[in-house]
Amino acid sequence: MSNDGEITITVCPGLTKKGKPETFDHIDISPGDTISIVGPTGSGKTAFINDIEVFAQGDTVTGRRVLVNGEVPPERFIRDPACKPIAMITQNTKCLADLSVGEFLEMHVATRNNLQENIIADTISLANEFTGEKIVAEARMSSLSGGQTRSLMIADAVLISKAPILLLDEIENAGIFKEAVISHLKGLRKAVIFVTHDPYVSMLSDRRIVMKGGEVVSILSPGDDETEALRKVREMDEEMSVLRERIRVGEVIGSGSF
Ligand SMILES: Nc1ncnc2c1ncn2[C@@H]1O[C@H](COP(=O)(O)OP(=O)(O)OP(=O)(O)O)[C@@H](O)[C@H]1O
Ligand SMILES: [Mg+2]
Repeated sequence: MSNDGEITITVCPGLTKKGKPETFDHIDISPGDTISIVGPTGSGKTAFINDIEVFAQGDTVTGRRVLVNGEVPPERFIRDPACKPIAMITQNTKCLADLSVGEFLEMHVATRNNLQENIIADTISLANEFTGEKIVAEARMSSLSGGQTRSLMIADAVLISKAPILLLDEIENAGIFKEAVISHLKGLRKAVIFVTHDPYVSMLSDRRIVMKGGEVVSILSPGDDETEALRKVREMDEEMSVLRERIRVGEVIGSGSF
């Protein structure tokens, strides 16, 4: 079966950590949607995207249910990795295989019967749009930095797995270009859900799900209300990137140079 057809996911409410019913009605996630999940540490952000990852049917700690196109998803979505329409990338996503980048991608392409020409070169070049440190096919997977690994996993999920839904758990400090990732994935009509503590990533998303005590407490769509603030935050983010780079190369940031 092809897993690049358009699908809509619906998250139905479960129970809070205290065992009370959640108050939201349901949350639909459609192709091209970008959603951020925000909230304090321990508020249930990872649990929320885990529910989506496993297509929860009241069988996780939250009691939520997740539907695909309005129905309980078929068993193969859950059991067969080649059919699974979801890719989850976390801060701990690592590749343990001692292979080169090219060999790793070739292995993955072989399992997917993906016969598209130049797929490996295309995947590496897409990954390189997301990270400042260029990846080459000959590099060992084990030698990639966190940002390079995450960028490669996103490009792999998009081009090789062709996953229509990406779940990204706190990848913001990994040195990847957030806006490039978001606009690229939106252009491809991928649904992307970010768990994030980064105001810039939250503000780039169309919708913001706010968590507290294991519960979805609000769902915001700030839209034009945040346009002006987003412009400022983008400038601040650029300044932070420059600063980060200067610190990385060993500069002392004197008051006159900032
Ligand atoms: N609705 C819920 N009912 C019961 N337990 C829950 C619920 N939501 C989350 N939990 C549990 O609470 C703990 C913290 O949740 P989680 O790891 O999702 O928090 P988080 O927001 O991702 O935190 P962090 O920002 O530190 O990553 C986990 O053990 C999780 O299983
Ligand atoms: Mg978490």
